[in-house]
Amino acid sequence: MLISEAAGFLASSEGRRNPYPAYAALRAHGPVVRLGANFYAATGYDAINALLRDPRLRVMGWPEGPASRLIAASLLKANGAEHIRVRRLTAVAFSPGRVEALREAITVEATKLAAYLACLGGSGEVVDLMDEFAYPLPIRVICALLGLPAAEQQWLRERAHELTEVLEPRPPGEHTVAADRAAIELESYFNDQVRRRRGMRGDDLTGALIATHDAGGGLSSRELISNLVSLLLAGFETTANLIGNGMGVLLDHPGLASRLAADSSLADAYVEELLRLESPLQLTSRWATEEVDIDGADRIEANSHVMVFLGAGNRDPGRFPDPDRFDPFRRSVQPLSFGAGAHYCLGAALARLEARVALPLLLARFPAMVRGGEAVRRDRSTFRGYANLPIFTGG
Ligand code: HEM
Repeated sequence: MLISEAAGFLASSEGRRNPYPAYAALRAHGPVVRLGANFYAATGYDAINALLRDPRLRVMGWPEGPASRLIAASLLKANGAEHIRVRRLTAVAFSPGRVEALREAITVEATKLAAYLACLGGSGEVVDLMDEFAYPLPIRVICALLGLPAAEQQWLRERAHELTEVLEPRPPGEHTVAADRAAIELESYFNDQVRRRRGMRGDDLTGALIATHDAGGGLSSRELISNLVSLLLAGFETTANLIGNGMGVLLDHPGLASRLAADSSLADAYVEELLRLESPLQLTSRWATEEVDIDGADRIEANSHVMVFLGAGNRDPGRFPDPDRFDPFRRSVQPLSFGAGAHYCLGAALARLEARVALPLLLARFPAMVRGGEAVRRDRSTFRGYANLPIFTGG
């Protein structure tokens, strides 16, 4: 397949639902290929790993539309000293110790949701695993972390979901109505939270960030709101997809699923392989501020946009033999799913913990679970996940 054909396929609905053949076709031309003037695609594991760690490549936000502007003011789109300053203020909440302390609470929530699933599917009804488990678990966890009211979780889930559209590749100048509306509503919601909580002590992350802002700790009002929204956004859509994609793979590999059900100490290895095989975030992007040369790849010209296909790097046969096969016993997986370098996912430990708890718990609780119909994938390039995943719980 020509480079232009592969790129065209990736931009089609079919390509978004199954991008892997097009990734392989692009990679066959080299780990980084030129798609057009000042426009490149990176699909090789080593090249992506190197590009994400290279300070000559920067993140960039767009100034067009409320949704883009909101994300542009968050640490996701900050560079250099500004990025380090904001990341340091937020990172405390995600230290390994703080995250591990959430294990008990995550297990309690996952157990409650599994009990509810058992009620819904107890008489042989088809249940949507995304709606009833994969989304509710991470939204409850991130809302607890941010100290947001349980009654508002559904509303927040819908708004954050609409806002994710802003992270999809689209032609310059085009922005989405739903994402912009969601951005305005979320901004107003978090402004209201900040007003109501000001001066109150709060142990949660929202309270901590408000206190930092009010104490002149180096966080502007705009950054405060933008980072709260970004944490909500980053915190659950991706994790819901990790759980959903993971269960999809496990339902298709019942033998390997029953091994995990019987031995939850395998969860770490299973989750790494599931992250690799079906990366919940397939793509990110960078701007090269100067010319960048990478071994064996097309030279990236200065002032170029590079699409970084994490999901393609994760299936690079040069790094992972037989890359399309689910093999939870691979050694040293180190998927690119959480990125690499300065912007490495702040919530990686939390997302891993949620999946490590949820997957064996579901499999052990429902050993006879099977698919209950055809699952539908979301028509998205950046976020890979199911719109619904019908199952029979089997009791
Ligand atoms: C399976 C779940 C998740 C995946 C696959 C994922 C993936 C990623 C990736 C690839 C990046 C880097 C983007 C880039 O380099 O351009 C990132 C950054 C980030 N993620 Fe996650 N993420 C997940 C869960 C979470 C959770 C649970 C949180 C927080 C509660 C979170 C918060 C963040 C933040 C704040 C950043 C920006 C870090 C920075 O720019 O310094 N993520 N994530």
